[in-house]
Amino acid sequence: MEVIGKLQQAEVIIFGLYENNEQTFKTPCFQQVNAIESSLAEYVKAQSHFAEKKKVTVIPIMKGAHVKNVAFIGLGKKENISLRDLDECTAKVTKELKQRQFKHLTYCFDSFTGPDLSDEAVAVSLGESKVVAQYEYHGLKTDQDETASLHGEVVVCHANKDRIERGLHKGKAHAEGVCLARNLMNAPGNYMTPTHLAGEADALAERHDMACDILDKEELEKLGMGALLAVSAGSTEPPKMIVLKYQGKPEWDDVLAFVGKGLTFDSGGISLKPALNMHEMKMDMGGSAAVLGAMETIGHLKPKCNVLAVIPSSENMPSGSAIKPGDVITSLSGKTIEVKNTDAEGRLILADGITYAKQLGAQHLIDVATLTGAMMVALGKVSTGAITNRQSWMDQVLACSQEAREYLWQLPSFDPYQALLKSDVADLNNSPGRMGGAITAGLFLGAFAEDTPWVHLDIAGTAWTDKESERGTKGGTGVMSKTLANVAMQHADK
Ligand code: BES
Ligand code: ZN
Ligand code: ZN
Repeated sequence: MEVIGKLQQAEVIIFGLYENNEQTFKTPCFQQVNAIESSLAEYVKAQSHFAEKKKVTVIPIMKGAHVKNVAFIGLGKKENISLRDLDECTAKVTKELKQRQFKHLTYCFDSFTGPDLSDEAVAVSLGESKVVAQYEYHGLKTDQDETASLHGEVVVCHANKDRIERGLHKGKAHAEGVCLARNLMNAPGNYMTPTHLAGEADALAERHDMACDILDKEELEKLGMGALLAVSAGSTEPPKMIVLKYQGKPEWDDVLAFVGKGLTFDSGGISLKPALNMHEMKMDMGGSAAVLGAMETIGHLKPKCNVLAVIPSSENMPSGSAIKPGDVITSLSGKTIEVKNTDAEGRLILADGITYAKQLGAQHLIDVATLTGAMMVALGKVSTGAITNRQSWMDQVLACSQEAREYLWQLPSFDPYQALLKSDVADLNNSPGRMGGAITAGLFLGAFAEDTPWVHLDIAGTAWTDKESERGTKGGTGVMSKTLANVAMQHADK
């Protein structure tokens, strides 16, 4: 979005409106409009409900030659607004104006800032909302009417324009990562196969000049990635280990690695899932989508750090060649695993992903996965759950999630949980039972992270939504893409 210093002409000028209206009335943009439509301030003052949080009001300016409409987005009480509220408000007005067929939006920056909202945060919110609020998944319907994307600009009268421009750029970069993640998740499983996902990663690398390495089945066999191979054994779709390298520093050191579950369809395998809602399991590559979304954002923002994305990708299908409950497999790390339940496949492919990331030099690890129904039972569909082996690393990730306005909550990893991972016939078992299932799944992965600082993010409840909202549509949410991108920004040499 372009930043301009003065309102020139506008199809619609958008004002944030706090209770008592004063801040908005003081902006040069409003005064300009009020000079044409002299009763506007009086009218707005009389309609106190215009300032109710998330209320959108559009008023045509009859005499307006250069400003045709005014829109207000209610922000509520100034001292009560959070960044999350602001995001919902900026997205709501954008979405609604798009639905009303506006083509070009002009935002009055100075009307939005508040005591707890820095100039940068407002700029990030506007830049991000303009993109995420417009998100639609076009899918494969044959009778599509293409909607043109909105143009936008921001009028900044008092704040520092360079800082606002940087904030808008950051918001847009985050939004593009989120939208990429959503697109990957919403694609059906017969299109979004491991091979296709690898192609998307390769295209991303090409766009941003990153290195991309895609290991095929023969290479996985040579390296001994027994866990990833075991999960894919029942499928006719070949597995892939997808690796992206972003080098933002002269030396390949202090490597931060994101490992994403790229399970393109989870039928459960021989431990088959019930038919009801099985179709939603095309979203089981949500972890890889978040990782690729973050890499897209990183590609735009170019932090001075080194980031590795590792995505083990496979289908989980039943067949005569599939792994069976009770089988014992050998992972890349050498650790053996008793597969008690073939539906607990995410932790198997991630085990090899984490080990491989370490072999490639990872010094800090974050894995992201739609890993357990148990996490959804624990935290619902609101918050992502997290587990760690290093509290200081977790604290950094939690801080980044807050900055990204993504809900994240830590679960405990007390020693007695570890005992549940034992097996009579192997080093570990992949299904210790229902109790504490989100924690034991996380700790299973921790056994492969070993001493490397590691945080596990289980997005089973948050990666997919059945409800449309201000900031998105039904389907993939792209959750944790922004948090991961923030972690990379924070990791950068300043
Ligand atoms: N992909 C699922 C987890 C999941 C469930 C994600 C619902 C999103 C929504 C995972 O592979 C799985 O099936 N986990 C099992 C583990 C169990 C067999 C130990 C589960 O959660 O039931
Ligand atoms: Zn499963
Ligand atoms: Zn799964």
